[in-house]
Amino acid sequence: MRQLHSDLWIVDRPLRFLGLEVGARMTVVRLPGPKLLLHSPIAPDAELLREVKALGPVAYLVAPNRFHHLFVGEWQRSCPDASIYVAPGLDTKRAELPIAGVLGDEPEPAWKGAIDQVLLAGFPFANEVVFFHRPSATLIAADLAFNVGSSSPPLTRIAFRLGGAYGRLAPTVLERLLVRDRAAFRRSLERILEWPFDRVVVAHGEVSEQGGREELIRGYSWILGEASAA
Ligand SMILES: [Fe+2]
Repeated sequence: MRQLHSDLWIVDRPLRFLGLEVGARMTVVRLPGPKLLLHSPIAPDAELLREVKALGPVAYLVAPNRFHHLFVGEWQRSCPDASIYVAPGLDTKRAELPIAGVLGDEPEPAWKGAIDQVLLAGFPFANEVVFFHRPSATLIAADLAFNVGSSSPPLTRIAFRLGGAYGRLAPTVLERLLVRDRAAFRRSLERILEWPFDRVVVAHGEVSEQGGREELIRGYSWILGEASAA
């Protein structure tokens, strides 16, 4: 576990996607109480469970988009008092889970005040909900952007270079093509950019410790500059 702030940690694991090593990252937020919120949980093992539980009781398991949900059930079995919150669409895809709530455009009462959230509209492929941890001025996202750099293996670096997202905080051309409603998507992005964040944590790639907001604006300049649709 790597601590980024007094109430914020990340844990990285190797993960292959479409044959490429992209890694997966879980973010742990300690809310007042203390209560822990696990964003995009990775596979739990005995050591990780011990380390996480040492920080406080696990209260909330968050699957932030349609892809980052694989291990919430396993965590819930190890932490039976934890509530599961999922991105829209997972409530039917993972109907067997004891889901406490479907994430929307407003923070849940459980974490309102410490964490704000926006549902990225117009991108039903992922239906990602993006979070802002107020005390640490950190944006917490899963696939909103990648940040693959020199620490990734050569094949991953080549693929992301081809995808137009190497060495910077940005989505790939693939995500660009999958935006269904550009005006709605842009409005969501603009709401995200109203938050005063500096650090950006994404699920694949490096953490942007400083200047993350400006990096994200550059990574999304292809849509932020568009005139509003009538
Ligand atoms: Fe992902």
